[in-house]
Amino acid sequence: MNETADTPPIRPLARRFPATFVWGVATSAYQIEGAAHQDGRGESIWDEFCRRPGTIRDGSSGERACDHYHLFESDLDLIASLGIKAYRFSISWPRVQPAGRGAWNEAGFGFYSRLIEGLERRGIAAHLTLYHWDLPLALQNGGGWAHRDTVHAFSTYAVEVARRFGARVASIATHNEPWVVAILGHETGVFAPGFRSRAMAMQVAHHLLLSHGLAVRAIRAAGHQTPLGIVLNQSPVQAAADSDDDRAKARLEDGMLIRWFMDPLLRDRYPDDVLAHIGEAAPRVEVGDLALIRQPLDFLGINYYTRRAVAGGQTAGARPGPVTDMGWEVYPHGLSELLTRLNRDYRLPPVFIMENGAAYKDHVVDGGVADRDRIAYLEAHIAALADALESGVDVRGYFVWSLLDNFEWADGYSKRFGIVHVDFATQRRLVKDSALWYRDFLATG
Ligand code: FCB
Repeated sequence: MNETADTPPIRPLARRFPATFVWGVATSAYQIEGAAHQDGRGESIWDEFCRRPGTIRDGSSGERACDHYHLFESDLDLIASLGIKAYRFSISWPRVQPAGRGAWNEAGFGFYSRLIEGLERRGIAAHLTLYHWDLPLALQNGGGWAHRDTVHAFSTYAVEVARRFGARVASIATHNEPWVVAILGHETGVFAPGFRSRAMAMQVAHHLLLSHGLAVRAIRAAGHQTPLGIVLNQSPVQAAADSDDDRAKARLEDGMLIRWFMDPLLRDRYPDDVLAHIGEAAPRVEVGDLALIRQPLDFLGINYYTRRAVAGGQTAGARPGPVTDMGWEVYPHGLSELLTRLNRDYRLPPVFIMENGAAYKDHVVDGGVADRDRIAYLEAHIAALADALESGVDVRGYFVWSLLDNFEWADGYSKRFGIVHVDFATQRRLVKDSALWYRDFLATG
């Protein structure tokens, strides 16, 4: 006992969170499931995109990924063994509705039913995401998210999932990171479906938001009580230099990344400065669309990885200092900055951090992975989250990205985000030190 009056005991980090706080791990369907051609699954835009030469850094695809489709029981055992009580996953739309409209695929629904049952048996809460980027290819061939019909197809799919699983899951999120789908998928073209048109990207962004609103309204109208929300990727955007030009560019970038999504979701308008900037590329918005988008949210999901700096009018890379294997600056304080700012500017529903984590070059040594950088990353971000909570932001949960090393989109298998290592040749899983750290952290809460 060496505590004295002037050295107060250090409160374990986990005790800065209420007992009801949700701690989980996250994955997404295309990144882990594999079984791309099994049991009637239809093709998705990512299957097709990966076949195009030069799109994926290592020429790979999610065709096999972590083979979670077959190994899910042991993957759920892993989650349980770490004492983790919440799991975020997504449904592959083409697995349950191969053409994106019309017939349902019972074998596909069967898989998710067994997955949810496996979670129930282990006392792990299921947090379901409807759309984590794998649009049925048939819908893309009809125009995809640029086409207004896709909005209605999504709503039909969403209601069917809610009807089957709504009572068995803790939450349903409509979309994961609509900014990424719109901008990386349709403006820069580095993600599926790989278009390069700003106007298309902005129309897609509008349709994604509209489909969110329509789906939420329809699920509720059908009488389902499941908490509903959406997941946005967000970062504080800062001027790299103290110049008017950089500040103006940062403000605009903030408008594209944050306000373009938050304003319609929570205030039924698009930000004027962004509309003025994009000019002719502004989306066609029909009467009533904005009211539809602004459905009451039961929660807002936020994915946080890093901040963005704008320099010389360009979105700059990382600043000097530690970066992850993605080249993303490690900037934990950005999480509390972001959350306190959002809490000041909007009337927020309860917030869940639905993704946070880091890729590092891991090394398997003596049957283990001593991923100290990842542990430091997670610990620092959880501390920043505690700061946000203590300053009054209503944060209810946090999910580590990701349970498993997996198919990291255009980076293929070259980036490892898991707290569990995957040997993709043998599909062997190996718990990294970060997973053990998370287990011990949770045990002190
Ligand atoms: C997010 C995605 C997730 C994963 C992480 C690293 O943008 O939602 O699927 O790729 O980044």
